[in-house]
Amino acid sequence: MPAPESDLRSPEWFRSVVFYELPVRTFFDSNGDGIGDLPGVLEKLDYLVDLGVGAIWLLPFYKSPWRDDGYDISDHFTVDPRLGTIDDLDRLVEAAHGRGLRIIGDLVANHVSDEHPWFQEARKSRDSPKRSWFLWSDTGTEFSGARVIFPDYEKSNWTWDDVAGQYYFHRFFHWQPDLNYDTSAVRAEILNFARFWLGHGLDGFRCDAVPYLYKREGTTCAHLPEVHQFFQDLRGMMDAEFPGTVIVSEANGTIAETVAYFDRSHEFQMVMEFPLMPNLFLGFAERNPRRILDVLRATLPGVPTDCGWAYFLRNHDELSLERMSESERAVFFREMSLPSDARIHNGVRRRLAPLLGGDDQSVLMLTSLILALPGAPFLYYGDEIGMGDRVDLPDRDAVRTPMQWANDPSAGFSRAPPSSLTRPLVVEPAFAPSRRNVADEESQANSLLSRMRTVLRVRAAHATVFSSDRFEGVDVGDRPVLGFWRAGSEYQILCLYNFGAEPSTGQLELPGSLWASPVELVRGQGSTVSGRTFRFRLAPRGFAWTLFLTRRERGAPA
Ligand code: GLC
Ligand code: CA
Repeated sequence: MPAPESDLRSPEWFRSVVFYELPVRTFFDSNGDGIGDLPGVLEKLDYLVDLGVGAIWLLPFYKSPWRDDGYDISDHFTVDPRLGTIDDLDRLVEAAHGRGLRIIGDLVANHVSDEHPWFQEARKSRDSPKRSWFLWSDTGTEFSGARVIFPDYEKSNWTWDDVAGQYYFHRFFHWQPDLNYDTSAVRAEILNFARFWLGHGLDGFRCDAVPYLYKREGTTCAHLPEVHQFFQDLRGMMDAEFPGTVIVSEANGTIAETVAYFDRSHEFQMVMEFPLMPNLFLGFAERNPRRILDVLRATLPGVPTDCGWAYFLRNHDELSLERMSESERAVFFREMSLPSDARIHNGVRRRLAPLLGGDDQSVLMLTSLILALPGAPFLYYGDEIGMGDRVDLPDRDAVRTPMQWANDPSAGFSRAPPSSLTRPLVVEPAFAPSRRNVADEESQANSLLSRMRTVLRVRAAHATVFSSDRFEGVDVGDRPVLGFWRAGSEYQILCLYNFGAEPSTGQLELPGSLWASPVELVRGQGSTVSGRTFRFRLAPRGFAWTLFLTRRERGAPA
């Protein structure tokens, strides 16, 4: 099913498509060396098209020692040789575009690998022309307001370097020195990094670790005005030189802090919906979605009409618990299926299916919720088949295991034997390749994958309504049901989600502007209409999308 043509031409293409986040390294290995690669992604494009995806977000594929899975870049202008070549990337981009798919990369701007020649040069001498590209200190006491992001790995944001004879600043791991954005050559070089890959046809970037680019004494060194200025400059360059390309911000923060990255359409077209995400899981844990509607009512009005939130449930990182209060965390830990070693950094390293107790219905319900909100949903590879995780692997590798394509010893990921894969496969029986894999799920009408495809297809068929910014919460009384209307010009779609573990029924009065003849796009357990009263029935963790045509007054203009 090719993406609707209008998607590719419209400057707001990103609002109507579903994004799919994938790591080249663990997606598909085309040459049997045990490591996923760019030609492997190309081979699987038809799978993504069939799933109903409209855009791919490729995790960092640049040259890197892989001490932070590619977020530690050692050469911005090459593909890591284990993943392929620039020619492979060109072929992938061309093939993706040929199928109506967009493809964005990952702009890692805050830091580089300590193996990067820039850092190697900088540390050699105080007179090195690259010295000012990084942040140095004789005491390692500056910027004490900047919290440590990986507190279980790093004690301080400063690390002593014997070669340099000074401390250097790093907001993440100590092998990722931060760049100094007060140096204009750094800003120029990162814009060149973006230009280079946009020149190779990428349709934009997810921008990594956005809030942290600038450091100022006496602040938390996050979300500073200078950060906004840099990304506005990036956006300005992209609009001028590569029109139609987009940037998505990875900035965890309060509602006000995250909304600021839209900055009246001058900055990011899309902002990761960090304020909502933990509330989706908390609402699930509490069997009460009220908090979700509260957050949506607070976050949606701040979005300029040509921008959109980027919704996600899970990604390649830990599920951040930063925005949860102590009591919310207690509820979360009590209700979600969490092995004791699942905690890491300020969060939890679990995939979607195991978090939701391996229940397909719950996976579908939460996924179909982010599919129906105004903005762009981001799916994480493997979650569409209910893949699991491995909390026995180091750090966030737990949620980055090879994609499970088939029920064979290497999960159809590679011709190499399981023992030589770039990362081991999931072994937990309920989530292992023998139980969860693309080939088997494709052949079963009722599998998670088949049901996912159906929901994505329905969404694509109604893309104009789902990509509009009209959203209105519905009062369903004292029930564990989340309800909202999505309105288009010809019809409206009522979306209902049962967060309860029991079936739920309810009713609502239809507005006079609609015909009282529902069309069930995704069926709940049946609905009825009498007069203008609509009655619904939802299975436990069930959901329904119901369409109502708009009434037109006789003689009124269409
Ligand atoms: C972002 C990435 C994460 C990485 C970090 C440092 O948070 O998503 O994977 O470790 O930045 O680059
Ligand atoms: Ca390979």
